[in-house]
Amino acid sequence: MRVLVIGGGGREHALAWRLALCPSVEDVSVAPGNPGMGQVARCRSVPLADRARLTALAGHERADLVVVGPEEPLCAGLADHLRSEGLAVLGPSAAAARIEGSKAWAMDLCHRHGLPAPRSQVCATPDEALEVAAAWPLPAVVKADGLAAGKGVVVAAERAEVVEAARALSARGPVVFEEFLEGREVSAFALCDGRTARFYGVARDHKRLLSGDLGPMTGGMGAYTPVADVDAPTLAAIRDILERAVAALADEGCPFVGFLFAGLMLTADGPRVLEFNCRFGDPEAQSLLPQIGGDVALEWLAAARGELGDGQTVLRPGASFGVVLAAPGYPVAPQLGVPIAGLGPDGQIPGYEDVLCFHAATRWDGRWQTAGGRVLTVVGRGGDLARARERAYAAVEAVRFPGAQWRPDMGERP
Ligand code: GLY
Repeated sequence: MRVLVIGGGGREHALAWRLALCPSVEDVSVAPGNPGMGQVARCRSVPLADRARLTALAGHERADLVVVGPEEPLCAGLADHLRSEGLAVLGPSAAAARIEGSKAWAMDLCHRHGLPAPRSQVCATPDEALEVAAAWPLPAVVKADGLAAGKGVVVAAERAEVVEAARALSARGPVVFEEFLEGREVSAFALCDGRTARFYGVARDHKRLLSGDLGPMTGGMGAYTPVADVDAPTLAAIRDILERAVAALADEGCPFVGFLFAGLMLTADGPRVLEFNCRFGDPEAQSLLPQIGGDVALEWLAAARGELGDGQTVLRPGASFGVVLAAPGYPVAPQLGVPIAGLGPDGQIPGYEDVLCFHAATRWDGRWQTAGGRVLTVVGRGGDLARARERAYAAVEAVRFPGAQWRPDMGERP
């Protein structure tokens, strides 16, 4: 099978790496990819926004399957376009991708179909948002309706902050107010074929830049799996949410094909939906995909064709622990061109067993350099989380660049 992956970050490196391990796969190409993926895929420099060239590339590559990684092209209808050209695509239609593209639509979907979610209210205009901001119970969660690359959510403890968030976010479009929920967050995934949701595991992401969950929000500073506080009843409730969400989307006339990502809060009353995303998580993919067994390419092709059937994904025993190395200045103004020491020419970390290095934003001109905010995800694997964590952090110590930022505290709390 020949597969084209669309995207260029750490998640797409992990997708390409996992596909390249499959006996059924003879070739993997990635558009646009990045230089760190060179060992597993051929990179094709076609921009994500250029649908016509991406479609032509899929034809040129004779792709049996196209896997779309990021949310922006999915929300903009790339999967619809590729499908209309007769390609098998793992990625939702624009209509189904609204589950990420519109927080208001997603929360309404939860309420319409009885999925467990916080109380919420949508405000279409700034005046309405300011009126609700004056009275919404504290602490309040205020979200921008549309895609915001992880920067569209404000959790505000004081009334003045709520009003300021409502003012700032409503200037750009509708806003959603949500009830604040206490608990710890978890990311849950399912591979979907439009009707069936096949469970793909849970991971714990770390969205704040600094230890102790302090500092600015980021796209994610690291993730691990399994998650100790997801016990058997919680897991059953999470699977139920994913299955009911896929049924709800089918019921609404927009069947979901691709990776469905539920961002959940584990409350004292069980898991509650904070958000849905229309794709694999980043950095969750870098930790979860090494734990998925079997010939995933065949499974992903079956999902793309709407033929997933009743089987179960093989979730490997053991653990996987990913640490993101970010550039100095991230997330506000990441420094580019900073030389990176400790990587071999293949982009991996020599001398560290059971460690994978997924590239998100690197450049290679005879030496490795930073080329964006989140630069690398270093993933340790082991029989349990403690071993995987130890391996990941040992390898992180071997990769150094001036001003590198990473969180040393992940996995400290069970
Ligand atoms: N790690 C969170 C996300 O991918 O949105």
